[in-house]
Formats: sequence, structure tokens, C-alpha cells
Amino acid sequence: MSQDLPRVITRVLKVGNGDLGSFHDGEGAERLGSWQVSKAESPSLKVLQEAATYLRTKDTPVGFPTETVYGLGADATRSASVQGIYTAKRRPQDNPLIVHVSDLEMLRDLLSPAGTTNGIANGHRDSIPEIYKPLIARFWPGPLTILLPNPEPSKLAPEVTAGLKSFGARMPSSPLALTLIKLTGTPLAAPSANASTRPSATTAGDVLEDMDGRIELILDGGACLVGVESTVVDGLCDPPVILRPGGVSLDEIRSIPGWESVEKAYKDQSETGKAAPRAPGMKYKHYSPRAKVVLYESTFEHGKRGVAFQDLETSRQVNGHETSGIDSEFTVGIIRTRHWSPGAGLRCENLASRNVSITDGALDGDVELNVFEGELRDESGEAKIGKLLDLSIGEDARSIAQGLFSALREFDRRKADLIFVEGIEDNDDIAAAVMNRLRKAASEIRS
Ligand code: TXA
Ligand code: MG
Repeated sequence: MSQDLPRVITRVLKVGNGDLGSFHDGEGAERLGSWQVSKAESPSLKVLQEAATYLRTKDTPVGFPTETVYGLGADATRSASVQGIYTAKRRPQDNPLIVHVSDLEMLRDLLSPAGTTNGIANGHRDSIPEIYKPLIARFWPGPLTILLPNPEPSKLAPEVTAGLKSFGARMPSSPLALTLIKLTGTPLAAPSANASTRPSATTAGDVLEDMDGRIELILDGGACLVGVESTVVDGLCDPPVILRPGGVSLDEIRSIPGWESVEKAYKDQSETGKAAPRAPGMKYKHYSPRAKVVLYESTFEHGKRGVAFQDLETSRQVNGHETSGIDSEFTVGIIRTRHWSPGAGLRCENLASRNVSITDGALDGDVELNVFEGELRDESGEAKIGKLLDLSIGEDARSIAQGLFSALREFDRRKADLIFVEGIEDNDDIAAAVMNRLRKAASEIRS
């Protein structure tokens, strides 16, 4: 399939957080039985109606917010529509996509074979596996994706599952997303709305940056609250496993009946602290800004010391930035979390705030990144050797998760050549998701 699309005009439509809908029905997990769209007319609902009609009838995906990251949504039941995702993202087709549902009614319908309807409504045994019920009751709607058996024949387009016998399903908590899915009337397949290999998008502005001219509609619902993708779990095997760490933590999942012995099934470099540091300059392929990312694992030493001048020199040489000309000033970005001080120990002068909204004017931004800029000096402090950008994304793991992708993207906008990131301790909370993404984004890991 050709990856070269004719350019289209991309519209960004604002959707407010007013009354869009609510859940109706029973108790426990069954409170999620049916999402009902608000009867009151509003400009936001009109925009969502337009997007829903577009999703039903066109084969180009729509950018929309969820509580985790922005997604690139398409009708999960139509092949042409799902293929449009892969084309827009320039993503290889061997990666399965997560299916987003608005309520349990929609999920049960997917669990019954094509040509049949939702079993429970006809008095059949409930098709949702028992193991997932307490998880659903506790974490849905929210940042958790569960693997379910894909019936034969399936209502899902084959492109969604990439040939696997299971599909991943999630009920997002964003009312905007739930309403969009309900109005479309079919589940939406949606990967993160970044171009393949780039950091995920957490604002409509991020989506526009990667998808301008490639998709026609982006719904702007403001910045995402969680900031990293959903946790993916497989409860169909014994013991159940976590396939990707995300917005719901291992600790939280372990506290659920039937999930006490859940295991990690994702491979994470340095996960055990035993892996060798990654060779400098190794090719990155995920969540990566244009700049080279150097990650410092959280150790007492690094916490105390920050970035040594020798580290800067080594990374700079490896990454081929020898001297800086006037047009391409050598720029180093520092992303700080808990211990590093401004500049992370490198010599800099005139460090001053250059504060901008991350969505940079064109759209309403509701998150501000407080970036400081200064002159980067050599080891003696005598000569200017470039520019230094400094940004703290907070100490709390949740706020670090929320700011992580925005920080990487913001340093790209400011033309950073090298980014040093202060890692955090890899606990079984959302820190695991933060470090998992950072290890993938990094072309060098120092531990
Ligand atoms: O938070 C999220 O999950 C975001 C937002 C948009 O909802 N979506 C997202 O989708 O991150 P995506 O397509 O980028 O992530 C898909 C990942 C795959 O890489 C794989 O790890 C897992 O979900 N996955 C999906 N279906 C699977 C399956 N049948 N078997 C195993 N893993 C699956
Ligand atoms: Mg992704």
C-alpha cells in the first residue's frame, strides 16, 4: 500500500467538557451497561455528531482525546477504515490495535460471532470472562486494556488484530471519547495519534504537528490527564500477565481478586538493574523525539551528581555534534524530576524562564511547561559552547507521567540536539510506565 497520501486540509475542532452523557444501568460492573448521550443540544455534541458521521462513512481516521493520550480512531468493523490508520501513522500493519468501546453492551456485542447478537440480552451466559469482572468493576472506564477471545467469525476487521486470536479492548473514561464512540455506533480502533516512532500526543496541538495534511479532523478536548497509554493485561493465561505497563499500576492490579499473582510479561532494559547500559548511539525506534535522548537510571550517584561534563562530551561526540555554527546552535535539554538542580550540574549562565503554553497559541492550551533557557558553558565556564534548556516535570510519579511526552515534544520544537533525562525509581506504580517509555525513547542509558 502506498504511504504517500494526497494532502488534505486538517481541521481542529474544539469540544468542551460540558454535559455530553452518562452511564445508565445496574450495580458493580453493570453500572457500565450503557452510555447514554445527553439529550440537551450543545455545540460540542454537534461537533461530535459530525465526527461520528465522518467515522461511519469515511476511511480516514479522526484524532480524538482519551484520558491517557490522543488516539487516531477508525471504525473497527470496516477494513478500509482501519487501513486508514496504518497509512496516516506510517505504521507497519503487524501491530494489533486497541478497540475502544463506550459500554458493556458494545463489548458483549463484539464477543458474539458476526451475524449473531449480544448473548446476554437473549438470556445466554455472559460472554465476558469471569477473571475480568472485578478488574472492569474497579478500573473501567479508565486506562486499562484487557485481551479477549476474538470470536470466529468476528465483527472486527482483520486488520485490527493483526492475525491474533484475541483482541484488546478498553473503555476510556473521557466523556468525549465515550460519546464519540456511542454516536458512531461501532467500536473505534485507536492507536496513539503520533506518527510512528514519535512520542505519543497528549494535546490536539501534538496531533496536528504529526498529522497535519494527513487526516481531516482532530477533536481538541484539551490536555490528557494521565499522559501515558493504558496498561495492557492478559487474563486468558495462567497466571495472568501485564503486557504493557501504563496508567493503572501493577500494585493496583495485584490488589484485585484473581490477580494477586499477576506477572510482568514486558521486556524492559535494566528492569532488574542487572542489564548492561545500552551502547551509546544505538538505534531508537519508539516514543522518540528528533533529539537523542540520554536516560539516567535512578541511582543515588546520579541523583547526587546530575550530568557530568564528560558525559556531555561523550554523548555529543557519539551523536555527531562537534562544533556549533550560528544557524545550528548546539542545544542541550535537561528534563528534571526529583533530585537534579537546574542545569543538572552543567555550567550555564543567564538561565531564565521562557514560558509558553505547550499548544503555542494556535489552540487553547491548558498545560504550561516552564522551560528555562540559558548559555551552556565549557568545563571551565569560560567559553560558551551552546544553549541549555531546563525543565522540571515534577516529583510525583503521576505528574511526571503527565508531563513526559509534552516535555520531549517541547524540546523538539526548541531544536534540542541532546536531551538528558533524570529517571525515577522503577516502583510498581505508574513510575513503571514512565521508565518503560523512557527506556524505549533513549538511545543511551546510563546506570
Ligand atoms: O491508552 C491507550 O491504550 C491508547 C489510547 C489511544 O487509548 N492507545 C494505544 O493503542 O496505546 P496502541 O495501538 O498504540 O497500542 C496497542 C498495543 C499493542 O502494541 C499491544 O501491546 C497491545 O496494545 N495489544 C493490542 N491488541 C493486542 C492483542 N490482541 N494481543 C496482544 N497485545 C495487544
Ligand atoms: Mg503508540
